[in-house]
Amino acid sequence: MKKIFVNGGKELVGEIDIQGSKNSSLPILAACVLVSGISCIHNCPDLSDVDAAIKILEHLGCRISRDNNTLYVDSRCISCYNIPHTLMREMRSSIVFLGSILSRKGRAKLSLPGGCEIGLRPIDLHLSSLKTLGVEVDESFGDIKCEKTKTVKDAVVSLSFPSVGATENIILASVFIPGQTTILNAAREPEINDLASFLNKCGCDVRIGSGGTVVIKGVLCAHGCEHTVMSDRIVALTYMSAVGAAGGNVLLKRVEPNTFLSVIPVFKEAGCKVIAQHDSVRIISEKRLNCVRDIRTMPYPGFPTDAQAPVMAMLCTAKGTSVIVENIFESRYKHVGELVRMGAKIKIEGKVAIVDGTDSLHCAAVTATDLRGGSALIVAALAADGKTAISGINHIERGYENICGCLGSIGADIECIECNE
Ligand code: UD1
Repeated sequence: MKKIFVNGGKELVGEIDIQGSKNSSLPILAACVLVSGISCIHNCPDLSDVDAAIKILEHLGCRISRDNNTLYVDSRCISCYNIPHTLMREMRSSIVFLGSILSRKGRAKLSLPGGCEIGLRPIDLHLSSLKTLGVEVDESFGDIKCEKTKTVKDAVVSLSFPSVGATENIILASVFIPGQTTILNAAREPEINDLASFLNKCGCDVRIGSGGTVVIKGVLCAHGCEHTVMSDRIVALTYMSAVGAAGGNVLLKRVEPNTFLSVIPVFKEAGCKVIAQHDSVRIISEKRLNCVRDIRTMPYPGFPTDAQAPVMAMLCTAKGTSVIVENIFESRYKHVGELVRMGAKIKIEGKVAIVDGTDSLHCAAVTATDLRGGSALIVAALAADGKTAISGINHIERGYENICGCLGSIGADIECIECNE
C-alpha cells in the first residue's frame, strides 16, 4: 500500500504547469465512442480515472495508444454495446458512456453506478431525459438496458437541476438525432463547452447558448479530430489552497483563470494576493490568512463543490470563523474527521461546516476516503507541524497527476512511499 508523507511547514515557491482537466477528459473519451475514426486528444492527464476510461474504450472495441499526454483513440470498430459491472464500478463517471454508446449502437447495457464516497449519485435525470429522446429504459437487478425505439425530432429536454453528467449524456445521445434537440437549464460548467468543442471538431453541431440552453442539430456521422483538453480548474484551485495554507509565492501556468473567476475573491478575502493573467495565476500568501464568512457550493459559475474540501483545509489555520455550505452533495464532509485529527476545529451541522481557525495544525496518520477530500489532507499537511502520513491515496491518484512531484518542485517536503501496512 502506498502512502504520502508530508513534512509540513515549508514555504512553497516556484512554478507549476497545471495538468489537463479530468472532468473534461472523461466525457471527451466517452465521446470518442460515437466517432467513426481516430481521435487525437492532447493534454489528457495520466490518472487512474483516465486508465479506467481507456479500459472501457478497449472493451467496446477501440484501439488506444498513448504518447505522454496525447491519447490516440481509434474507434472505427466498436464491437460491443455493454459495459460490465467490473469496469463500471472503477469510475463513477462511466455513466457518461451511456449517451455515446446509444448514439453509436442504438442500444446500451450497463450496470447502475450506485452511490459513492460523497453521497447518493442518482441518475434519474439522465434516464428521464433519454426517454424524452425516444429511448426505452429498462432498469432491473442493478442493470440498465436502453434502446432507441423511436426517433423524436426537435425534442426539448428541460432539466430540473443543471446536472453536469445528465447534460453530457443528453448531448452525446442526441448528436445524430435528426432535427434539433434543445436542453433547457443545462449545466454551464466549462467542461461542457470543452466537450461541445471536441464534438464540433468531429463534425457534430452542438451550440451552447446563454442562460443554460444547449441546442444540438443532428448530423449524419462524426469523424475523428485533434483536440487539446482544457486545463484542470480544480487542480489549480487545490494548488492555490496549498500556497494559501503553507505560505509562499507560486506561479500556476497553463491555466484558464476565466474558468474559476468566482473562487478568486475567496483567496483574496483570505488575504492572499492573486494576479490572474490570460493563462497564468500567481498566488502570494505571506501572512496568516483571515477567515472567509460565507462559501456556498453551487452549480457553475458558483463556487465549485470540488474545491470545497481543499479550500476548507486552507481555512483551518485562518484567523476567525469561516462558514461553508455544501449544496451539491449530501456526504461531502468525510475529510472533516481527518482534519480534526490534525487539530482542526470544525463542526458540521447538516449542510453547514463551521471552521474555527486554529493557530496551528499538527501531524497525524490520516486516511483519504475520496478524491478532493484526499487533496484537502495534503493541503492541511503542508501547513501542519511534523510529518503527516496519508493513506487511501488511490483516491487522490484518480484526479491529480504526479501531485508529489508538482508540490515537491515548489519546495514541499512530500514523498509517496510503498509501505507494508
Ligand atoms: C458533479 C458536479 C461537478 C463535479 C463532479 C465531480 C455540480 C453541479 N456538479 O457533477 O461540477 O465536477 O460532480 O465531483 O456541481 N442529481 C440527481 N439526479 C441525477 C443527476 C444528479 O438528483 O440524475 C443530483 C446529484 O445527486 C447531486 C447534483 O444533482 O446532488 C449534482 O449532480 P451532477 O452535476 O449530475 O453530478 P456530476 O455530474 O457528478
